Amino acid sequence: MSSSRLKRVGESPTIRIANIASQMKSDGIDVISFSLGEPDFDTPKHISDAASEALYNGATHYAPSPGIPELREAIANKLVSENGLEAKASDILVTPGAKQAIFEIMMSVLDDGDEAIIFDPAWVSYDPCISFAGANTTWVPTDPDNGFMPVDVADYITDKTRIIVVNSPCNPTGGVFSQKELKNIADLAIDHDLLVLSDEIYEKIVYDRKHLSIGAMDGMQDRTITVNGFSKAYAMTGWRLGYVHANPELLQGFKKIHSHSVSSATTFAQYGGVAALEGPQEPVMEMVDEFRKRRDILIDGLNAIGIKCNKPDGAFYAFADVSEYGDGDTIAEKLLSEAHVALTPGSAFGASGKNFVRISYATSQERIREALKRIEDCLL
Ligand SMILES: Cc1ncc(COP(=O)(O)O)c(C=O)c1O
Repeated sequence: MSSSRLKRVGESPTIRIANIASQMKSDGIDVISFSLGEPDFDTPKHISDAASEALYNGATHYAPSPGIPELREAIANKLVSENGLEAKASDILVTPGAKQAIFEIMMSVLDDGDEAIIFDPAWVSYDPCISFAGANTTWVPTDPDNGFMPVDVADYITDKTRIIVVNSPCNPTGGVFSQKELKNIADLAIDHDLLVLSDEIYEKIVYDRKHLSIGAMDGMQDRTITVNGFSKAYAMTGWRLGYVHANPELLQGFKKIHSHSVSSATTFAQYGGVAALEGPQEPVMEMVDEFRKRRDILIDGLNAIGIKCNKPDGAFYAFADVSEYGDGDTIAEKLLSEAHVALTPGSAFGASGKNFVRISYATSQERIREALKRIEDCLL
C-alpha cells in the first residue's frame, strides 16, 4: 500500500532506542538516557515570556509563510554579524525546525539519480532526506584520529554530484571543522560547481574553538545553503524553530515546498526566536560551560575503562570506540538491557560507526558519573 519512496527509508534509529528506553522507564526501571540529541535545560525564561506574551496578544493566526518580518530581520542581522554572511531578511526562510529546512533543500535541489556527499558518520536524517528526493548518498570516510574530518573528498565527486553536506560542529562526532578543512571543501565545490549545505545547528556549542561558516568564504556566498535553528543553542527543541539562508533562486524553491506543506513555522514561537537572538546570551554560555564540564567527566571516565574517545571540540556528543568489548550494536544492547544505560549504536550514523557508540551528554554530571560506574561494572 505504501509508495516506493517510503520503502527507500528506514525508521530513525535514534528515536527507536529512545522509545525502548522510555518504555523501560515507564516500567519503573531507572534508565540513564544518553540517546537523545536534546539539551536537558529548560528554554531561558525571557524567550518563553516573549512567546507567551505574543500568544496572549493574538499571535495565533497564520504567519507569513517565510516567517514573521521581525524574525527574518533578526536572523539576517545575526548571520551578518556573527557568521560573516551577506544576508538580507528576504534571503531567509523560517522553518519548523532545521530538519524541515534540510528536507525542503534536498527535495528542491536533487533530481532522481543525483548524488549528495555526506561524511561518514553523519546525522541520521541526511541520508533519508536524500533518498526521499530520489537521489543517492555518497558516503565519504572520515578519520577518527583527526577529529573525524573527511578524507579524500575529491575522489568521491562524480559528474552526478550536486551537493556536499557539511555539519560543523558534527552530530554524532562532536568534530569541528577548521578553516583549512572548510577551505578544502569550498575549493572542491567551486571547482566542480557544487552546492554546499552547511548545517550549523550546533555552532554555539564549541569548546576552545571558533565556529566558522563556509558560506562566508570567497566564492561560496551563492553556492552555500546555511541551515541553523534554535533547538540546541537555546534549548528549544520542542518549539520547532529553524531557518535557512540561501540565494534568492534557491530560496524560491524551498519556499514552494514550504508553503504547500507546513505553510509556516508556528506564529507565536517565532516571537520567542526574536527574543532568543536579540536578548541576553548568558544562558547560552552557561549551558555551554556545563556541557564542557560534563564532556570532561565523561571522556576521562570512558578512557579510564578502556573505551577510546578523544575529547570532542563541539556539540554534546562523544563518539566512542567500544571495539575493546565488541561492536557498537552489541555493546549498546548489552548496556541497555544489563546496565540500564541507553546510548546509540554508531552504525545508526553510517557504516564507519560499526565499532562505536554515540553518547549524548545532555544529562547531569551526577548521572554521567553513575552511568560510568554502571558501564564499568557491566563491561569489565
Ligand atoms: C546535525 C543536526 N541537524 C539538524 C537537526 C534538527 O534540528 P531541529 O530540532 O532544528 O529540527 C539535528 C537534531 O538533532 C541535528 O543533530
